[in-house]
Amino acid sequence: MTADTPAKYGGEPIREDVLGYGSQSITEAEKSAVLDVLDGDYITRGPTVEEFEDRVSDLVDVDHAIATTSGTTALHLAGRAAGFESDDEVITTPLTFAATAHTATYSEATPVFADIDPNRRTLDPESVRARITDKTVGLVPMHYGGHPADIEGLLEVADEHNLTVIWDACHAFGGSWNGEPIGSQRDMAVFSFHPVKNITTGEGGMVVTDDDDLARRLRHLRSFDMNYEPDGHESEPWYQVVEGVGYNYNITDIQAALGLAQLDRLEEFKQRRDEIITQYDDALGEISGIRTPPNPVESDPMYHLYAVEVRDELGCDRQEFVNAMHAENIGVQVHYVPLHFHPFFQEEFGYQRGMFPETERVYEGLVSLPLHPEMDDEDVEDVITAVRRLDAYHRP
Ligand SMILES: Cc1ncc(COP(=O)(O)O)c(C=O)c1O
Repeated sequence: MTADTPAKYGGEPIREDVLGYGSQSITEAEKSAVLDVLDGDYITRGPTVEEFEDRVSDLVDVDHAIATTSGTTALHLAGRAAGFESDDEVITTPLTFAATAHTATYSEATPVFADIDPNRRTLDPESVRARITDKTVGLVPMHYGGHPADIEGLLEVADEHNLTVIWDACHAFGGSWNGEPIGSQRDMAVFSFHPVKNITTGEGGMVVTDDDDLARRLRHLRSFDMNYEPDGHESEPWYQVVEGVGYNYNITDIQAALGLAQLDRLEEFKQRRDEIITQYDDALGEISGIRTPPNPVESDPMYHLYAVEVRDELGCDRQEFVNAMHAENIGVQVHYVPLHFHPFFQEEFGYQRGMFPETERVYEGLVSLPLHPEMDDEDVEDVITAVRRLDAYHRP
């Protein structure tokens, strides 16, 4: 055993404390913004939520932003606003979090998986085309890790078949494609503000759109599907009308205050994420057993994940890699167990392993390394050293 022996095989762990794969970054400015709200009149949805929505709609260059309690509830609202219903089919990617597919299932529509383009790890427009039927009404692509999907190719398919497109941009807030902010593409896009995402409100999400009718529908559904200003009741200021089955997905001013303060740091966050990615790319690009994430295509992404693929040349498989990194006290994660592997999607919709070969091939090696703006250069170096140790240990 030498000083370079990986901890999994008897060496000393590189770190004493655990480095998480993702983390929020909160400063005194954020804390005092939250405290200010607590001293004010509104602690549920009020003027600070509106201000947060306005800032995001300006940033994303869209007419409307509707804040919700999470990315998941934002996707739910988007599917309802799109009018998805039973007997409809909605095409999406299997390499994602369950909530993406639930954009369909919440509305009792069927999620239809298509395979990914392994170079972007996002929906392949040709595979989508092959899955279209006369029941297909929608498309829910996901910008994996922040890397934009093939927006042009997917919009072309959507145009050919008159599909409503809901971009799951939960990983991609703050990025751009072809000079356009991610999220500004039609018909709707959804962001998540979970603590590991590009900015956070604790829990939180947002739907953005240029479509006035969709925006009105989203706002009503967010709050009980209630019309607070119904026609014919102008002289009865208390009169509200329930128009359908809505929800209470109201985000609070407390969360919006945190979100606004985080927006002030968006550039700082992006810059730090980009610096870490450059350090990883330079060091890990030299290891033949590691495939670094795809280079951006026509875009300036804000990456949420740095997901490498472990290849045979490393001399150990993904499972051993993950456990070896954990032994070094380095938190890594796998995004995602493909959705067609899960009992729910198999039992409800008849999916089986083997159906989406590109997704499965990418998944087999996939590991997300730590990436968040709180990481300092030493943290980054620890991750690189851990991977180099493993590579050296397994080299014949
Ligand atoms: C791709 C994707 N879509 C949707 C969601 C749901 O977002 P939230 O956790 O804010 O509900 C997540 C969350 O991890 C996600 O990664």
